[in-house]
Amino acid sequence: MRVLGIETSCDETAAAVVEDGQKLLSNVILSSMDLHAQYGGVVPEIAARSHIEAIMPVIDQALTEAKCSWDDIDAIAVTYGAGLGGSLLIGVLTARTLAISREKPLYAINHVVGHVYANFLTSTALPGYSMRAQQPVFPMLAIIVSGGHSQFALFQDHFSYELLGQTQDDAIGEAFDKVAKIVGLPYPGGPSVAKAALQGDAYAYQLPKAKVGRYDFSFSGLKTAVLRLAQAEIGESYNFPSTKLPQRLSVAQKHDIAASFQRIAIETIVDKAKLAYAEFQPASVVIAGGVAASSELRRQLSAALPLSIGYPDSKLCTDNAAMIATLGYFHVKCGQPIADPYSLDIAPNLSM
Ligand code: KG4
Ligand code: ZN
Repeated sequence: MRVLGIETSCDETAAAVVEDGQKLLSNVILSSMDLHAQYGGVVPEIAARSHIEAIMPVIDQALTEAKCSWDDIDAIAVTYGAGLGGSLLIGVLTARTLAISREKPLYAINHVVGHVYANFLTSTALPGYSMRAQQPVFPMLAIIVSGGHSQFALFQDHFSYELLGQTQDDAIGEAFDKVAKIVGLPYPGGPSVAKAALQGDAYAYQLPKAKVGRYDFSFSGLKTAVLRLAQAEIGESYNFPSTKLPQRLSVAQKHDIAASFQRIAIETIVDKAKLAYAEFQPASVVIAGGVAASSELRRQLSAALPLSIGYPDSKLCTDNAAMIATLGYFHVKCGQPIADPYSLDIAPNLSM
């Protein structure tokens, strides 16, 4: 069974074809990131306009790369939430139109659950991917860490999960993005903080870990602590504008701040993963979401847990449509309801 996935929840226009929920046949991602970088974050109107221009060429390319015609596609899976309203609308309207005109069943996919399903991809004919050896088994602890979410979920089976805890304020990816801004590193902050951290001392500064519920998170205090630290390092007070910090901090200070922040932010996640592992004894642990691309997270997690963890290729951690197509396959297989192509609506605030 071949599922075409369509993903437009933020600034990536993405389409992919996945076979039997495990083999990646194509994975096309066109990002409007460059257009947003000058503003230091995603501008919703620009993202929506970019999706309109890119969506059909991206879908056509996904079919071509997968060596598929429409006859080879058994179902269409589209992200309907959570995400930016204008962006989601383009993907959903396109998928609805294609489902009607090509007579394919349509499945509405939750973006955050989709991230988890990147872990079910185990093979590909595409070059440049390092794939997991096997699909994860249940019960499965999912560590979901992205630009919009930081949460732990315990999956007993497909479509049977319990949310253990989540962030009370900022998501961890958001904290990476904000810290990058404070020290003057380019957007998106995750990869640029990770790169700067390679040259810094992760123990140069002591930063706080928030005290919240057992499996909850809070990253806004850590972000503020980084701001205060940067102000103090250049001998200025709380009133010193953050926009002027990058030009006053030395390169070494920036590297040390990035490394110290990254260590603590990731440690916060890993500390709680250890607790959850001890309490629930899951048969597998998976990481999902953009921050799952972090090599520091992979390093700390592998060292902390007594089971071997399979990591998805980092191109499958940040937003993509392969994860949407993969989850789409399990919607079909497990008999989840088919969406009405004449009425499927977006759900910008959808939660797990
Ligand atoms: O899942 P994603 O692509 O979009 C959302 O659904 O939010 O996640 C994007 C987030 C951004 O905040 C980005 O800074 C972060 O993932 N990110 C990383 C890394 N690569 C991306 N954070 C830490 N380390 C990385 N290597
Ligand atoms: Zn995402």
